[in-house]
Amino acid sequence: MTPTGATAALVLAVLTLAHHASLAAAAGPRVIIVGAGMSGISAGKRLSEAGITDLVILEATDHVGGRMHKRDFGGISVEMGANWVEGVNGGKMNPIWPIVNSTLKLTNFRSDFDDLASNVYREKGGVYKKAYVQKRIDLSDKVQEGGEEHSAKLHLSGQDDMSILAMQRLNDHLPNGPSTAVDMILDYFKYDYEFAEPPRVTSLQNTIPLATFNDFGDDVYFVADQRGYEAVVYHLAGQYLKADKSGGIIDPRLQLNKVVREISYSGSGVRVETEDNKVYKADYVMVSTSLGVLQSDLIKFEPQLPTWKVLSIYQFDMAVYTKIFVKFPKKFWPEGKGREFFLYASSRRGYYGVWQEFEAQYPDANVLLVTVTDEESRRIEQQSDNQTKVEIMEVLRSMFRDEDVPDATDILVPRWWSDRFYRGTFSNWPIGVNRYEYDQLRAPVGRVYFTGEHTSEHYNGYVHGAYLSGIDSADILINCAQKSMCKYHVQGKYD
Ligand SMILES: Cc1cc2nc3c(=O)[nH]c(=O)nc-3n(C[C@H](O)[C@H](O)[C@H](O)COP(=O)(O)OP(=O)(O)OC[C@H]3O[C@@H](n4cnc5c(N)ncnc54)[C@H](O)[C@@H]3O)c2cc1C
Ligand SMILES: *[C@@H]1O[C@H](CO)[C@@H](O)[C@H](O)[C@H]1NC(C)=O
Ligand SMILES: *[C@@H]1O[C@H](CO)[C@@H](O)[C@H](O)[C@H]1NC(C)=O
Repeated sequence: MTPTGATAALVLAVLTLAHHASLAAAAGPRVIIVGAGMSGISAGKRLSEAGITDLVILEATDHVGGRMHKRDFGGISVEMGANWVEGVNGGKMNPIWPIVNSTLKLTNFRSDFDDLASNVYREKGGVYKKAYVQKRIDLSDKVQEGGEEHSAKLHLSGQDDMSILAMQRLNDHLPNGPSTAVDMILDYFKYDYEFAEPPRVTSLQNTIPLATFNDFGDDVYFVADQRGYEAVVYHLAGQYLKADKSGGIIDPRLQLNKVVREISYSGSGVRVETEDNKVYKADYVMVSTSLGVLQSDLIKFEPQLPTWKVLSIYQFDMAVYTKIFVKFPKKFWPEGKGREFFLYASSRRGYYGVWQEFEAQYPDANVLLVTVTDEESRRIEQQSDNQTKVEIMEVLRSMFRDEDVPDATDILVPRWWSDRFYRGTFSNWPIGVNRYEYDQLRAPVGRVYFTGEHTSEHYNGYVHGAYLSGIDSADILINCAQKSMCKYHVQGKYD
């Protein structure tokens, strides 16, 4: 090839590239995604795969992952938010599981609750007899089975839905309190520890049976990896955003520390304004912030969202689930098979009730996890960590009254409810609310689209729900942008 020929070829190549670049920019619409948690990152991936690559992701915090977030705690990395892959070893594959267990090989442990009957502590110390506790567990399992049968017969509209509490009453079981301390903590473990709200407010029809366990299996795997459960979100982000060698996202389309405060929308486009007074314009916006954030006034919509949308946002509950990690100079609790989970049967329902030790996960860390929910969570978020530590020490010294229980050296109390970027931990399904309200919660308003855990068709409250909702909501946007199918059909409540 002559030098001139080579130059001509080069010029042609450059022209072709430029042509493609301008085509790409012109072909796809510009989409702003608000939030870089699991659902926002998942939606962005789906849009990219459909050729919509002109994206800007605005994230309020300085990191990706949202409610999947690790924190250093006395030399180990613990999860402030999601910890388990829930729903494994069933008929269908939980989409998160292969990423965790095969692709990234995050260290994980199947949680074994089978010996719980041996690990229920009396309010004033020592454990209950196993046979007695087992009988109470069997009874509550039987009542739940009755609830499943009942649930299957209810009208799909939700008009006959009832609380789990009412279902228990129909089955002559009243564990909710005031009741025996054992019945209360077993009830708390079964329902509040999963849904973060009591059976009094939780829908029977939509939680028993629960689609997550029905579809994906009953097993749950605890992720305890120094890379954090959030590595799953970074992995998905790295599939369409530029990442550095260590997996950090360096793509300019991801903008951190950008707090969205206003979204204006019209027939021709959207305008998004952040707290630092920057303005972003686009064809569409995808809002992935939590239900708690939507229920707050953090983001102003202009014009205001229509009444049906606001009502659907308030139909659902944002629950609070608080994982308190405590570190000790030495261990004073039992270890070994079947000892990982233990319960404290307080006469005050849900008072520092569910405990987990980490012999397998963090062998020499001397760390315990105690979980509280709902009103206890809110109470604890509003007091000093020192006060919480005092309460925890008192509980532990009651449970292990014959042991030498040293003071905790460190405590970690996440505050998801007080955090204006979350306002809670995950959505819970209230009584009588059904597909109809759910479709409304997910439905776009003009050029404003919605995604997130709370919009997941079957798996609200979970990591896999957030992941799948990102795909679903992106598909709704793609239908409009690429096929001009912009009408989103919400099925009537009684259809
Ligand atoms: C304590 C806790 C325990 C949990 N345990 C489990 C578990 O064991 N297993 C499980 O499957 N699931 C669990 N979950 C639920 C799971 O973590 C969530 O369902 C999922 O991570 C939600 O993802 P998302 O994308 O819907 O929301 P988010 O993760 O909340 O993402 C939304 C993003 O938007 C950002 N944002 C908010 N406001 C703004 C704004 N104004 N401007 C810009 N950005 C904004 C947020 O910072 C966040 O990054 C748990 C959650 C918590 C909190
Ligand atoms: C997880 O991965 C390991 C190692 O590849 C494998 O042996 C194990 O069966 C997997 N677990 C499940 C539940 O799929
Ligand atoms: C908590 O207690 C420790 C020691 O008891 C003390 O050093 C610390 O200042 C206290 N912190 C707060 C916020 O009260």
